[in-house]
Amino acid sequence: MTNMKKTNSLQYICAEAENYIPKHIIDNSVQLIYLDPPFFKQDILKMYSKDENSIFSFPDKWESIETYLEFIKDILSKCKYKLTETGLIFLHCDTSANHHLRLLMDKVFGKDCFVNEIIWAYKRWSNSAMRLLESHQNIFIYSKTKKYKFNHIMTDYSPTTNIDQILQSRERDENGVVRYKKDKNDNILPIKEKKGVPLRDVWEIPFLNPKAKERTGYPTQKPIELMNRIINISCDEGDFILDPFCGSGSMGIAAYINNCKYIGIDKNQEAIDLCNKRKMNYYISQSAVIDGNYDDFFNLDNEIKYFISSINAIPIERNKGLDGIYSSNEGLIGIRFQRTEESISEAIYLMKKASEKKPLIKKILIKTHDSELFDIIPEDVFIVESLEYKLSKIISVLGNNNLKKKNNINTKGLRRITHD
Ligand SMILES: C[S@@+](CC[C@H](N)C(=O)[O-])C[C@H]1O[C@@H](n2cnc3c(N)ncnc32)[C@H](O)[C@@H]1O
Repeated sequence: MTNMKKTNSLQYICAEAENYIPKHIIDNSVQLIYLDPPFFKQDILKMYSKDENSIFSFPDKWESIETYLEFIKDILSKCKYKLTETGLIFLHCDTSANHHLRLLMDKVFGKDCFVNEIIWAYKRWSNSAMRLLESHQNIFIYSKTKKYKFNHIMTDYSPTTNIDQILQSRERDENGVVRYKKDKNDNILPIKEKKGVPLRDVWEIPFLNPKAKERTGYPTQKPIELMNRIINISCDEGDFILDPFCGSGSMGIAAYINNCKYIGIDKNQEAIDLCNKRKMNYYISQSAVIDGNYDDFFNLDNEIKYFISSINAIPIERNKGLDGIYSSNEGLIGIRFQRTEESISEAIYLMKKASEKKPLIKKILIKTHDSELFDIIPEDVFIVESLEYKLSKIISVLGNNNLKKKNNINTKGLRRITHD
């Protein structure tokens, strides 16, 4: 989705957040603070811009964990003054320092003001020696007071939910135990309206892959879908959002979509330039993943996936031209199934397109049905007939033989003339 409108409600400021916030942001004015600081990676984070002509980078190197925590504590304290009574702060972090940061949040905002820890979970393809593959980040939500605003979002029931739970009302009895609500005659009362289940604290939203159209090339860029969800639970239209470490400006775009006022701060001028450029023309990846349902997102047919896995190849999701990659001693081999309604030429075309710039030594196309009579097969493509296709051919020959026998047709197709 792109946009070419003016975005007056968004302001991007190049400054050090710890200096700018106390001087320029009015006390008790901000409904949502989204704090996405450096995570204590002890590295310089670098990435090529989308056009690959420049490199975006920012340092995430600290003298010690103490220096880092002091910096974060300072910014947290300054942010606290700016929140309204109903406001919430979301602190984004990962396992590099989340154990320290949760305690720091307790210190600055108070243990009682802890609201939730969101686990943002995503799929990643990477090697991870001697430990599990890290595929989540943490977002701590704290309020300034107990009067915080929280918009309840309901989601669909999971397919495993018991039908009684959906249809029957429940209440707490005098001992605080949850029971089905009953009328005077002891009949269980039906639920008034189907509400669904409250949004969980585990959010499965895809990580922006390097080729995603939404990707700007800024390191640590967050998906707009994630920002959007944060706004949906904490803000109404017109509310003011502060983003002290705005980076590529994803929260700004989400604020704009939700008609909220927004100030984004970053000390990196390149980030601010990118934000200003992006607000005039942004793109949002349309993800099919809703509340943890990856099934719609990963669209490879189960039978194809099963086959690809059974030959120890890697299934490839969301790719029109390749279904799997097999790693042989000679090199990588691409695999694809011919789809229904697809000719061999069409299948080869898509496979070739998807293989461009990929180091594939060969491609295997699995033929599943007859198409045109003459296919031009490139040298590096092998056509293999699927078992179903082979069987269907055998069955059709056997079927014809039976028919021939029935109709008394000889092998040359001529009807025998029988004389009594
Ligand atoms: C994790 S990134 C933010 C990513 C951003 N949320 C996005 O979606 O693109 C952290 C950002 O903080 C900025 N930064 C670091 N120290 C800062 C400071 N003292 N004041 C303002 N920005 C700072 C870095 O330049 C970097 O862009």
